[in-house]
Amino acid sequence: MSKKLKLGVFGLGSVGQGFYELLDQSKNPNLEIKKIVIKNPTKTRTIESSIFSTTPTDILDDPEIDIVVELIDDAATALEILKLSLQKRKPIVTANKKMLAENLEEIFWLQRKYDTPVLYEGAVCGSIPIIRNLEMHYAFDTLESFEGIFNGSTNYILTKMIDEKSNYEEALNKAQKLGFAESDPTLDVKGYDAKYKLAITIAHSFGCFVKPEHILNLGIDKISAHDIRYAKQQGCAIKLIAKAEKIGNKVFGIVAPTLVPVENPLASVKNEFNAINLIGASTGLQMLTGKGAGSLPTGLVVLSDVASLASGFKYSYPKITNDNPVVFETDALINVHVSFSEAGAIRLTDFEEFTGGYQGEDGHFMTGWIRIKKLAEWVDRNDLSVIVLGDTPFKVYESKKEQELSLA
Ligand SMILES: NC(=O)c1ccc[n+]([C@@H]2O[C@H](COP(=O)([O-])OP(=O)(O)OC[C@H]3O[C@@H](n4cnc5c(N)ncnc54)[C@H](OP(=O)(O)O)[C@@H]3O)[C@@H](O)[C@H]2O)c1
Repeated sequence: MSKKLKLGVFGLGSVGQGFYELLDQSKNPNLEIKKIVIKNPTKTRTIESSIFSTTPTDILDDPEIDIVVELIDDAATALEILKLSLQKRKPIVTANKKMLAENLEEIFWLQRKYDTPVLYEGAVCGSIPIIRNLEMHYAFDTLESFEGIFNGSTNYILTKMIDEKSNYEEALNKAQKLGFAESDPTLDVKGYDAKYKLAITIAHSFGCFVKPEHILNLGIDKISAHDIRYAKQQGCAIKLIAKAEKIGNKVFGIVAPTLVPVENPLASVKNEFNAINLIGASTGLQMLTGKGAGSLPTGLVVLSDVASLASGFKYSYPKITNDNPVVFETDALINVHVSFSEAGAIRLTDFEEFTGGYQGEDGHFMTGWIRIKKLAEWVDRNDLSVIVLGDTPFKVYESKKEQELSLA
C-alpha cells in the first residue's frame, strides 16, 4: 500500500464497532476513516462526533473517499449503497448476506460493468475465510460438494439440547441472554440465515447463481425429544447443515437439521462455532472452522477485506464460465427421517423409496428417499419433524415416465 486510503463507513453496530476498534488498534498509517454514516443521530457513541453523519452522500459524493464499508442491518438500503458506490467507482466491502444472496448475479455483473470490486468475506461464517479459499485455493480444483454449520445461534441451541438435555425454549432463551440469538430468532432457527450463506457459497464453489427462494430451508424449531433419542441411538449429532453438491452440470442444495455421524468432523463442532467441509476432486475432505459471528471476528474479516482491496485484490469468480454452464436444480431425492405423533400424518406413498419406519405409543417415524418438492409442501406443518440422514448424498430425481423412457 503506498497511498493513504480514506474510508467511508455505513453503520456502527456490532460489526462496525469491531471493525473500527481493530483498525484503530492496528495504527495502520495507510487506512483512515473519514466519515461514518449512521441512522440514529441521538444515540450515545464513544467516538468523536464530527466523524458522524446521517447523510449517505457525505460518503458517496466525497471524491476523497476511496473505499466504502457497508455494515448496516437493512438489506434494501445496503443494496442502494452498493449500487451507488459502484456507479461512483468506489470499491465496497459488505457483510450483508441477505442483500448479497438475493442480488448476487446482478452484483456480479455490476462489478464488471463498473470495473469496481465488491468483497464480502464477512457475509459467510464470520471469521472463517471461506470465499477467499474458494477464490484462490480451490480455483483449480473441482469441488464435488460442501456441507457446513453456517449459523452459530442454532449450533449453540442444538449443543444445549443434545449435550445438556435442555428443551428448545430453554436453549433458545440461553442463546438470547448470551447474545448468540436475536430477540426475533426466526431468521436463524428456521434456516434463512444459513440459506443466504449457502446461496453465496454455491456461486463461488460451483459457478451458478441461485436465488434463496429456490433453496428449501427447514429449521430446528420442530426437533423433538424423539429425534434426539433417535440421533443418539444412531451414534449421530444433530446439526443444522447447509449443503450443496454438484452432479453433472446440476447443483443441488438444502438447509435442514441433519444427522451427522460422529466420525464426521462437523459432529464435534459445538456451541456458537461454525465449520465447513469441502470435498474437492484433488484435495478430498478439508474442514475450515471458527467463530461464525461476533463483533471482533467479523470486524477482523471486514478489515482484512479492506486491506485486500487496498492491495488490488478482487474476486475472479473462477467457476463462472460460459462453457458448460452449471444450473441449480430445485428438486432432487434426499434421504430423510420424518417423525410425527399422530398415526397417519404422512403416507408411505409420500416417499419415492421407503426404507423403514416405526409406530408406537411413544411416537412414529418413517425413513426413506423423498423429493425436495414434497418436503417443501410440509414446511408449515407443525406436526412433523424432518431430519436429513447426513451420510447420504442427493440423488437426481427422475419421474416414473423419465425412468420408463430411459429403460425403453
Ligand atoms: N453481528 C454479526 O456477528 C454479523 C456477522 C456477519 C455478518 N453480519 C452482517 O453485518 C451487518 C451489520 O450487522 P450488525 O450486527 O453490526 O448490525 P447492528 O448491530 O444491528 O448495527 C446496525 C448499524 O447499522 C446502522 N444503520 C441501520 N440502517 C441504516 C441506514 N439506513 N443508514 C445508515 N446506518 C444505518 C445502525 O445505525 P444506528 O447505530 O444509528 O442505529 C447501526 O449502527 C448485517 O448485514 C449483518 O447481517 C453481522
